[in-house]
Amino acid sequence: LKQPVKVLVTGAAGQIGYAIVAMIARGLMLGPDQPVVLHVLDIPRMADALNGVRMELVDAALPLLRGVVATSDEAEAFQGVNFAVLIGGWPRKDGMERKDLIAKNVAIYKSQASALQQQAAPNCKVLVVANPANTNALMLKEFAPAVPAKNITCLTRLDHNRALGQIAERLGVHVADVRNVVVWGNHSSTQFPDASHATARTEHGEKPVTELVADEKWLREEFVSTVQQRGAAVIKARKQSSSLSAASAACDHMRDWILGTPKGTWVSMGVYSDGSYGVPEGIFYSFPVTCEKGEWSIVQGLHVDDFARSKMDLSANELNEERSMAYEFVNT
Ligand code: NAI
Repeated sequence: LKQPVKVLVTGAAGQIGYAIVAMIARGLMLGPDQPVVLHVLDIPRMADALNGVRMELVDAALPLLRGVVATSDEAEAFQGVNFAVLIGGWPRKDGMERKDLIAKNVAIYKSQASALQQQAAPNCKVLVVANPANTNALMLKEFAPAVPAKNITCLTRLDHNRALGQIAERLGVHVADVRNVVVWGNHSSTQFPDASHATARTEHGEKPVTELVADEKWLREEFVSTVQQRGAAVIKARKQSSSLSAASAACDHMRDWILGTPKGTWVSMGVYSDGSYGVPEGIFYSFPVTCEKGEWSIVQGLHVDDFARSKMDLSANELNEERSMAYEFVNT
C-alpha cells in the first residue's frame, strides 16, 4: 500500500457528499491501493449532520480509510490536502435568479480560494462540482493566484457519462463499448454534447457513432437536448437532484486525471481555456482531454463544423456573461 493522502470533500453533509465519501474510501477515486484520510467540511449549521457522516464512515469499517477530520472551519479543512472535491455551495432555490446564485457562490469560492492557497499541500488537485461549476472554478483561480491554473478543474464528466449512456441505449450496446463523445462548454443547459467523433465497438469492429446511428436529426436534436435536460429530468423523477451519478462522475474525473485515461480514449473536463478550438481564454470551458502522469491536455485537431461552432460559441458566450456577473460581485 502507498502512503495515505488527504482528500477534502466540501458540502459533505449534502446529498452528493453523502454518496461520494464511501466511494472515495473504497478506492473508487484514487485506486484500491491508495489509503486516504478524509477531510469533510460543511457549514456550522450542518455540524451535527456532518458528525453523523463521520460516525457512519467509522461504522463502515473501511480498510483504506486512515482517518476522518470533520470540521466547519475552512482553514482546518484545507490543511495539507492533496486533493479537494468542492461540492459545497449555495443551492439554487425556486425563484432565485442566476445572478443571485452567482453572487452567493462567488463569496464562498473567494473565501475557499484563500484557504486553498494558504493551507493545501503544494500541487493540490482541485475539482469543483458545486454550481455554477465553471464560474466557481474561475473564482478559485482568481483568488488563489499561487495555485497553478492546471490544478483547478470543474465537473462536466456527469454530462459526458450521460451522453455515453444515451448512445449506448440507442445502439443497444454496452456503455463501456462507446467512447470519445465530447461535452463542450458550460455545465448548464447551453452545454454541447457532441457525438460526431464518438465510436462504438460492435461485432463488426469499432465504428463511428454517426454511421451506426445513421440519424443526423436525432444526433443534433434529441440526443443534445436529452443530455442537456437530463439533470432536470432526474429532479422531476426523484424530487431531488442527481447525486449518485454526480458522485460517481466526480470519482471518474479524479481517477482519470490522476491515474491516466485509457489509450485512445478521451474524457470531458472543465479546464481553464488556452484558446483551443477558438474558445476565448479567461473562462473554464469543457474540452476533450487525455491525461497522463497526473496532467491533462486538450485533445487537438478535431474537426468543428458550422453546427458545432454555433453551439460551442453559445456556451462560451454564456460563460463570458457569468464571468462578468461574478466580477461585479467580487468588486463590491
Ligand atoms: P446539497 O444542498 O444536498 O449539499 C450541499 C452542501 O453544501 C450542504 O450540506 C450545504 O450545507 C453545504 N455548503 C453550503 N455552503 C458551504 C460552504 N461555504 N462550505 C462548505 N459547505 C457548504 O446539494 P447536492 O445535491 O449535494 O449538490 C451540491 C452541488 O453540486 C450543487 O451546487 C449542485 O448544483 C452541484 N451539482 C453539480 C453537478 C455537476 O455535474 N457539476 C451535478 C449535480 C450537482
